[in-house]
Amino acid sequence: MNTFLGIDVGTTGCKAVLVNEEGELIAKGIEEYPLYTPRPNWAEQDPADWVRGTFQAIKKTLDSAGVDRKSIAGIGLTGQMHGSVFLDQKGEVIRPAILWCDQRTAKECEEITRIVGQENMMRINGNPVLAGFTAPKIYWLKNNEPDHYARVAKVLLPKDYIRFCLTGDFATDVSDASGTSLFDVPHRKWSEEIISALDLKMDWFPRCYESPEITGYLKKDLAGQLGMSEKVIVVAGGGDNAAGAIGTGIVKSGLVSASIGTSGVVFAFSDEVKIDMKGRVHTFCHAVPGKWHVMGVMLAAGGSFRWFRDVLGMDEKNLSTLLEKDAYELLTQEAEKVEPGGEGLIFLPYLTGERTPHADPYARGVFFGLTLKHRKNEMVRSVMEGVTFGMRDSLEIIREMNIPIREVMAIGGGAKSSLWRSIQADIYQVPLYQVKVDEGPAFGAALLAAVGKGVFKTVPQACEKAVRVLDKILPDPDQNARYNEIYGIYRDLYPALKPFYKRVANIR
Ligand code: XUL
Repeated sequence: MNTFLGIDVGTTGCKAVLVNEEGELIAKGIEEYPLYTPRPNWAEQDPADWVRGTFQAIKKTLDSAGVDRKSIAGIGLTGQMHGSVFLDQKGEVIRPAILWCDQRTAKECEEITRIVGQENMMRINGNPVLAGFTAPKIYWLKNNEPDHYARVAKVLLPKDYIRFCLTGDFATDVSDASGTSLFDVPHRKWSEEIISALDLKMDWFPRCYESPEITGYLKKDLAGQLGMSEKVIVVAGGGDNAAGAIGTGIVKSGLVSASIGTSGVVFAFSDEVKIDMKGRVHTFCHAVPGKWHVMGVMLAAGGSFRWFRDVLGMDEKNLSTLLEKDAYELLTQEAEKVEPGGEGLIFLPYLTGERTPHADPYARGVFFGLTLKHRKNEMVRSVMEGVTFGMRDSLEIIREMNIPIREVMAIGGGAKSSLWRSIQADIYQVPLYQVKVDEGPAFGAALLAAVGKGVFKTVPQACEKAVRVLDKILPDPDQNARYNEIYGIYRDLYPALKPFYKRVANIR
């Protein structure tokens, strides 16, 4: 039986998975690498670390898989989006890659928006130019490191640099290219209009494919070293969110995923290209050929809960070793004893500013409504609820755009707790499913490789075979009404507090 490797070039490390033709996970391997913050708000990685991480993750996966390496028929790539890898004429990396979470380019975002025009940018790319996206990083290089800029011959996204190392080809896919601010999202191709307006060169950017298309073959010498056959295909793959959505089956109209990891991502499938002209959510091409997705990104979702555990959950942390239970589980058990709404306590999860829906780097976290009566358990519950209200903000915008939401698939750390799953069902007001595969993007990338090889005719067919539902929760109508009332207050708090965020940020 053929097997397929999925490779996710993530921010904390590289994850590889091996999947068979039945869509079953056979093995996985993870290798971490460092993230550098040479200045506050900067985030960089060394592409050489990604290469080492990728080979280590592949090695760990293959060593534990116990299958014939010659069975590997294809590789699918995915990874963190928006990062910029600058290569010179010889294919050498010019400087460390600037990542999706780097915030240095505020000035360049304004410059690009001025040159292209906000309306043009929304019409062609479907998204405002944001600090983490790729184009402003190219302009930052031009403005700040002209010697480096003068050497640029290619600009690649993280997973596509790994592709170049594996196959020697310059290629990307439509979902990842969507996040560069240089892509024509409705027509699924590089935008000559934006690229020439910005005076960049078209041949800096790799050829663009639909996600399951074959972009090349694993280099013969590498195939030999890894013990694989000489005919391993490499498919285009997708950005981590699009590939993750393949792994969770978000491939049909009406399906949405809600992922609560460090960040929170609401990802909705769309048959047509739909753009929020206010730019509150992203519209990108999907890894399903000819389809799109709309996505809201919260910056501190699970990250808010982790902050709470680290700062106020010391007792639970200590107890966790004694009771051999996870500190999150102990905190959640306490929150279960509290009524929804935590006795009038509301948490705003803007601990690192916010992307969707406010696009405000100055926003800050808030506990609102504290009284002498409140204890830690109410605070835990309000953190879980506040994060879920933030996710609902994205769902509301998606509803406003007339994109159907029939079912939500809960994934990430937030889907592991049954309390958090029921809070989500009650706040989102839709049936909520928990899906089995939590290998995320790497798993989706492996499925894309299986489609590229022809094992499955279409991406939805691959998902039908591979994605398994574990649990379904229906929203409770009584809780809905209660949460709607609290959500109304939650929504009014941000605009009321907005004038104070910048003032607070100025206090050193
Ligand atoms: C998407 C985004 C993140 C990165 C992180 O727009 O910025 O999800 O892809 O991996």
